Amino acid sequence: TEIPIREKNIVLIGFMGVGKTTIGRLVAKKLYRDFIDIDEEIEKTYNMPVTQIFKELGEKKFRQMEREIITKICSNTRLKIIALGGGAYLQEEVRKVCLSKCIVYFLDLSWDSWKERLPLIINSRPVLQNKTLDEIEALFFKRRAAYSLHNSKVSTNDLDPETAANYIVDSLI
Ligand code: S3P
Repeated sequence: TEIPIREKNIVLIGFMGVGKTTIGRLVAKKLYRDFIDIDEEIEKTYNMPVTQIFKELGEKKFRQMEREIITKICSNTRLKIIALGGGAYLQEEVRKVCLSKCIVYFLDLSWDSWKERLPLIINSRPVLQNKTLDEIEALFFKRRAAYSLHNSKVSTNDLDPETAANYIVDSLI
């Protein structure tokens, strides 16, 4: 049975460091709803930081964990605001469950704006380790193909998190 649109979970997707968690928290607060950060759920479930999961169990295992948690949460909850990890949406099964059960917002940032944030996030993101800036740029643009499968896009270039969150809230009414 179809989920009423007003009860659907809101899922935020986009590249690492675009503000999915920060903006998601604000949207949840403004709507008086619960916020779920998928990376945080993985860390709680397996009692291990994401960086350690990558190091000790490998990326493949991490992708399986995130796929399972996203599928479970999207299938069994409503009215949540959910921030995905930047790589989760590359998996077809994740795209399918999100697009069928949730409203998917793509948080978009230009490469030039994103580049300025790189120093702030590089150490905490295993996917960015041992890559040249050119390689990171290639990944940034390659992933846009998957992110383009969304319900709604927010260009966050000139928006502070508060304004971006208001934009999402207003778009729901
Ligand atoms: C990843 C993004 C991270 C985290 C993990 C892998 C990725 O989440 O899930 O380090 O492949 O893009 P954020 O998008 O919150 O940085």
